[in-house]
Amino acid sequence: MKAAQINSYGDQNVVKVVDDAVQPVPNSGQVLVAVMAAGVNPFDVTVREGRARQMAELKFPATLGGDLAGKVVSVGEDVSGVSIGDHVYGQANAFSGNGSFAEFAPVSSDSIALKPNNVSFEEAAGLPLVSVSAYQAMVDHIDVQPTQKILIHGGAGGIGSIAIQLAKHLGAYVATTASEKSREFVTSLGADECIDYHNQDFSTLIKDYDAVFDMIGGETNVKSYAVLRTGGILVSMVEQPNEELLAQYNIHYIHQFTQVTTDRLTKLAGLVDSDVLKPNIDRVFNFDQAADALAYLEQSHPRGKVVIHIAD
Ligand SMILES: NC(=O)c1ccc[n+]([C@@H]2O[C@H](COP(=O)([O-])OP(=O)(O)OC[C@H]3O[C@@H](n4cnc5c(N)ncnc54)[C@H](OP(=O)(O)O)[C@@H]3O)[C@@H](O)[C@H]2O)c1
Repeated sequence: MKAAQINSYGDQNVVKVVDDAVQPVPNSGQVLVAVMAAGVNPFDVTVREGRARQMAELKFPATLGGDLAGKVVSVGEDVSGVSIGDHVYGQANAFSGNGSFAEFAPVSSDSIALKPNNVSFEEAAGLPLVSVSAYQAMVDHIDVQPTQKILIHGGAGGIGSIAIQLAKHLGAYVATTASEKSREFVTSLGADECIDYHNQDFSTLIKDYDAVFDMIGGETNVKSYAVLRTGGILVSMVEQPNEELLAQYNIHYIHQFTQVTTDRLTKLAGLVDSDVLKPNIDRVFNFDQAADALAYLEQSHPRGKVVIHIAD
């Protein structure tokens, strides 16, 4: 089968699209998905570069990719609730060597759900990791309530663009940090206030917020403690808590590890089908351009998602 693989860790030049990759067979608890489209995430770059080696070493050749949307073509043992022919979206295991940048990918039945009906395979493939990340933060960790004020850093990115829509749906007042060129985009998603992080310091503009959702880290993370009210919550996708700042400000802190589950994906599909959430595709690449898709994500600041078209 055709797959985008690497034989060593490195930059975009190590990614090769081959026609003779071994077609995987689903293990117990897995289904085999004929991939129609694959979403690209910063984590795919991390895996390609070998920066995730402390979590798991890849066995080469390894097919890259996590997010996908496609059709179930076979079902392994001990799988219930998924049938051949189902149109699904979800996440392959990027460390298995059988990722989603391939014509076929084995996926745990716990990490997929029926795809939303009213979006294309490309749009669905851009959703799993970012929408579940936003959902886990907004609903499970922060439990956003109407009238609350939340600051979402990186509102123009994959996670941020979904988080803004979810927070507005839950009734919050939403401020977000983004480049000036993304102001119109984040406002169209529902943001009440857009702070241009290149020219403005958000920490001098807002205070007493109930929650901050951080996709950026570094100085942005450090400055976020001070904009929260006492008892507020800071959820970061990228940064561990700073013990000194935690002691100084009386807030809750969560360093989130996103878990893509059938339950969360099903709830999100419902929100997409009822037009609460709109996927945002920045650019779709052809399968042969898989290396370029990863480089584009690294080098540009996409507005929403980068997706690879795998099959018609
Ligand atoms: N812990 C986990 O389980 C987990 C899971 C998923 C993702 N992540 C991590 O979460 C992070 C975000 O992921 P993503 O998919 O949303 O990335 P993304 O799509 O690349 O979005 C990042 C966005 O941040 C904006 N940005 C850059 N610097 C900024 C700053 N200083 N202030 C405000 N905005 C800024 C950029 O937009 P502009 O055009 O406005 O600059 C860009 O669109 C990544 O580091 C990823 O690795 C962690």
